[in-house]
Amino acid sequence: MLLLTLETSCDETSAAVVRDGRAVLSNVIASQVDLHAKYGGVVPELASRRHLETISPVVSEALANADVTLDDLDGIAVTRGPGLIGALLVGVSFAKALAFGRNLPLVGVHHIEGHILAIQLEQQVSFPYLALAVSGGHTHLFRVDGVGQYRLLGRTVDDAAGEAFDKVAKMLDLGYPGGPQIDRLAAEGEAGEIRFPRPMLKKDTLNFSFSGVKTAVLNFIHKEPCLPQGERLKAVATAFQDAVVDVLTQKTLRAARQEGLQRIVVAGGVACNRGLRQHFVDCSVREGVEVFFPSPVLCSDNAAMLGVAGDYYLSKGGCSSLDMNAVSSWPLEEVRCDRLG
Ligand code: KG4
Ligand code: ZN
Repeated sequence: MLLLTLETSCDETSAAVVRDGRAVLSNVIASQVDLHAKYGGVVPELASRRHLETISPVVSEALANADVTLDDLDGIAVTRGPGLIGALLVGVSFAKALAFGRNLPLVGVHHIEGHILAIQLEQQVSFPYLALAVSGGHTHLFRVDGVGQYRLLGRTVDDAAGEAFDKVAKMLDLGYPGGPQIDRLAAEGEAGEIRFPRPMLKKDTLNFSFSGVKTAVLNFIHKEPCLPQGERLKAVATAFQDAVVDVLTQKTLRAARQEGLQRIVVAGGVACNRGLRQHFVDCSVREGVEVFFPSPVLCSDNAAMLGVAGDYYLSKGGCSSLDMNAVSSWPLEEVRCDRLG
C-alpha cells in the first residue's frame, strides 16, 4: 500500500510517501523556525498561514522525490491531533480534499502515535515495548502492546521536557528552538560545581515535573552578576541537561522494570538530544534492556512517521470519514476506539 502522509501539527509542514508502512520513499520537511525565531516561540496564527502557503509545494515535492504521482497512491494519512488547531486544520483539510477528489481512503493519525511508531520505519522492534514520548508538548510514558494498544504509565504534571529546554534556552538568551542549542553547549561543557534538582525522582510515581528545574536555573541566573557566558554558560547548560536526562532515564528504566519490558523506544524531538541518547545507552547496558532511538530526522516532527499507523489502520479498513475534524487535545489511549470503533 502506497500512502501519502501529511503532518502540520506545529511549525513543520511535512509530506511523505511511505510504502507498506515501512519504506520511506520521500520525507519532505519545511521548517518554520526562521518565521517564529524572532518571537521566541511558535506564533499559532503565523504557523497556520505558513502551512497554507507551503503545503501544496511540499506535497508536490514529496511525490516527485518518491517518483510517484497521485494516481499511484492507495491512501492518505494525516495528523489529526493533538497540536495547534489552526495548523492541524490545514493538513486535515488538504488531506480531506485530496481524498475526496481522488477517491482515496483517509485516516487521521495521532501525532504521538506517529512518534512512538516511527522507529518501525528503520528497525523492527517487537511489541510489547515501553515508549518515552518526549517533545515540545509531551513527556509521556506508554506501554505499547501493538499498534493502537497504548497504556499511559506516567506523564509530566507541568512542563514537557522540550518546553523546559526551550524556556531555559530563552532565559540564557540562546534563541528558539532552544533544545538543540543546549545540546550543543552541553556537548562541550562540564557541569562542575553546578547541580540542579531532579524533581519527583525519589517519589513513587512515574509522573514527571520539569517546572522546578526551570525555576532553579532562573534563580541561579538571578544570583549571577550577569548572564553566563563562555565556559560558565556551557556549565549551566550541561547541569540543566544532566538534570533532565537523569530524570527521564531513571523514570523510564523504572517503568520498564515495573512492567517487565525488555525494550524501550525513545521518540519525539527531545530524543535528538545527544546527552539523552548516550545516557540511555549507558544505563540500558547496565539494566540489561534494549533501547532504540529513531534517527534524528524521524524524531522531530515529520510526516513519514505517520506511515506505520496509517498503513496499519487503512489495511484493516479503519479509515476516517470525510467529516473527521482536527482535535487540539486527544489522549493517546482513546486512539483505537476512536478510529476503529
Ligand atoms: O517532536 P517535536 O519536533 O515537536 C513537538 O511535537 O513538540 O519536538 C520539538 C521539541 C522542542 O522543544 C525542541 O527544543 C526539542 O524538541 N528538541 C531538542 C533537541 N532537538 C529538538 N531538545 C533537546 N535536545 C535536542 N537536540
Ligand atoms: Zn512532535
